[in-house]
Amino acid sequence: MGLDPMLSNFLSWYRPLLISLQRSSLLVALFIQLLTLFTISLLGITLPIVTLSIFELAVLQGISAAIISHKLKMPIWWVPIHLIFIPAIITTLALTLSPLWFCGAFFILILMFGKTYQTKVPLYLSSHKAASVLASLLPKHKDFSLIDLGCGCGGLLAHISKIQPKGNFFGVEAAPIPFLLSKLRTMANSSNCRIQWGDFWKHDLSPYDVVYAYLSPAPMESLWDKACKEMRPGSILISNSFIIPGVKPEKCLKLNDLTDSTLYLWRI
Ligand SMILES: C[S@@+](CC[C@H](N)C(=O)[O-])C[C@H]1O[C@@H](n2cnc3c(N)ncnc32)[C@H](O)[C@@H]1O
Repeated sequence: MGLDPMLSNFLSWYRPLLISLQRSSLLVALFIQLLTLFTISLLGITLPIVTLSIFELAVLQGISAAIISHKLKMPIWWVPIHLIFIPAIITTLALTLSPLWFCGAFFILILMFGKTYQTKVPLYLSSHKAASVLASLLPKHKDFSLIDLGCGCGGLLAHISKIQPKGNFFGVEAAPIPFLLSKLRTMANSSNCRIQWGDFWKHDLSPYDVVYAYLSPAPMESLWDKACKEMRPGSILISNSFIIPGVKPEKCLKLNDLTDSTLYLWRI
C-alpha cells in the first residue's frame, strides 16, 4: 500500500473523530484525560528512574491535563477540573469507603445534572437581587402570568409568588431533584404557583405575559425563535445574564449582585 492510500485511510477515521471532538467539550475533556493517563502511566511503568508514588503520578497527570486543556483553549473552568479529577479519585479510593456511597452520590448527580449534556444548561440559581428586581417589573394592580423556563429549585418562583399575589406563576423543570425541590418550595403558594416536570421546548409560551429564562448562551437563538413564534405581541421576554445574539434588548438592568449579572428585556 502506497503512502497516499495509507494517509487517506488514516484520515477517514481520524477526521470524524476530530470533528466530533471539536463539537463537544466533554469529548475533548475525555480525550485529554485518557491521553495524559496513558502517557503518565507509561512513564511510571517504563522508566525505572521515575520513583513517584501513585498520588504523585496522579498530581503530575492532573497538571499535564490542566496545561493541555489551557493550550487547547477549553473554557477556563475545565482547568481546575482537569487538575483535581484523577488526584481526587486516588485520594477518595484511599479512604476505602463503601462503593455504595459512590453509587448513591453518582445517582444524585445524575438526577440533578444528568440532562445538562443534552440541554447545555447547567443548574445555577438566580440571586435574591434578580428575584427582587424581576418582582419590581411586574404589574402591581392587574392579573398577569409569568413562566420561569427551567425553574431550577424554585427559589425565584417561591419568592415572587409570595410578594405578587396578583400573578399566576408557572415553572417547568427537566431535572428530577430540582423539580421536586421546586414543588416543595412553592407548596405554600400553590394557589398561584404551579410547577411541572418536563421540557420547556415542548411548552407553549402564548398564555404568558412574562417569560423568564436563566439558561446559558447555547439555547438563546432557539429561544428567540420560539418566543417570536409563540409569544403574544406586547408580552415580555426576560433573560438573566445571556443575550440573544443580534437582537438588541429594549432594556438592560444591571443587578450588582454577586455574579454582577444583568437582566435583558425584549418586548415582543
Ligand atoms: C441556570 S438554571 C436556572 C434556575 C432558575 N430559573 C433560577 O433562575 O434560579 C437553569 C435550569 O433550567 C433547566 N433546564 C434546562 N433546559 C431545560 C429544558 N429544556 N426543559 C426544562 N428545564 C430545563 C436546568 O435543569 C436548570 O435547572
